[in-house]
Amino acid sequence: MKSLCFPTAAEVAERAASIIVERIRAKPDIVLGLATGVTMEPVYEALLEAYRGGAISFADVTSFNLDEYTGLPASYPSSYRATMQRLLFDHVDIDPARTHLPDGDADDLDKAATLYERQIIAAGGIDLQLLGIGQNGHIGFNEPHSEFSTRTRTVALHSTTMQANAAFFPNRDVPRNAITMGIATILDAREIIILATGAVKRAAVTAALYEPVDESCPASALRSHPNTLWLLDAEARPLALA
Ligand code: F6R
Repeated sequence: MKSLCFPTAAEVAERAASIIVERIRAKPDIVLGLATGVTMEPVYEALLEAYRGGAISFADVTSFNLDEYTGLPASYPSSYRATMQRLLFDHVDIDPARTHLPDGDADDLDKAATLYERQIIAAGGIDLQLLGIGQNGHIGFNEPHSEFSTRTRTVALHSTTMQANAAFFPNRDVPRNAITMGIATILDAREIIILATGAVKRAAVTAALYEPVDESCPASALRSHPNTLWLLDAEARPLALA
């Protein structure tokens, strides 16, 4: 595992975007694994800028997002589908049929989860997975004590996660469940970049990088992945790296 530290969150996002741009240029039909969250917003802004400047096209790109809340229609403004449309998909030349998120509004969530795994395999697997990290060490919505062998499935959100995302919902009424790619699904990606910015992430990053690999910190599973890059700002950087 490699890590790079930058003075600011803006530089972290710029580096992440420049890696994605490079990969799209090298392989225009790349399969991207995408994430939502505050950390990713400047990454999508930088990608839009690259697209508008003619540096990249999404015409042949396929994408799979990590997760989606359950019980929300895709059109609900805080759904991750609506968020991705607003931040990226609505503004680029990506084929809507090739943008995938787990169907959190399906009648049969287990079936939707199984289908998602099949779709990822049918697309040839994920070339580059973008990840954020939760304050509790989660990746995707794989909360602490998720088994490392997990695949896409319905999960209950941890109270820390619900609190962190409450501001995006009226009356702080966050859904209690989500569908998420599993940890094993994430580890199948050929390349992973994980971003952490802000002091609230430092403890989780420290646990993921330096404490024993353990299901209490889902991001520690990345230590077994052969091609993972951590991009950290000064506030999230573990003291051991300072
Ligand atoms: C979102 C996701 C989550 C976030 C994490 C960090 O699709 O999978 O794991 O990456 O919760 O979120 P922010 O960036 O809002 O701190």
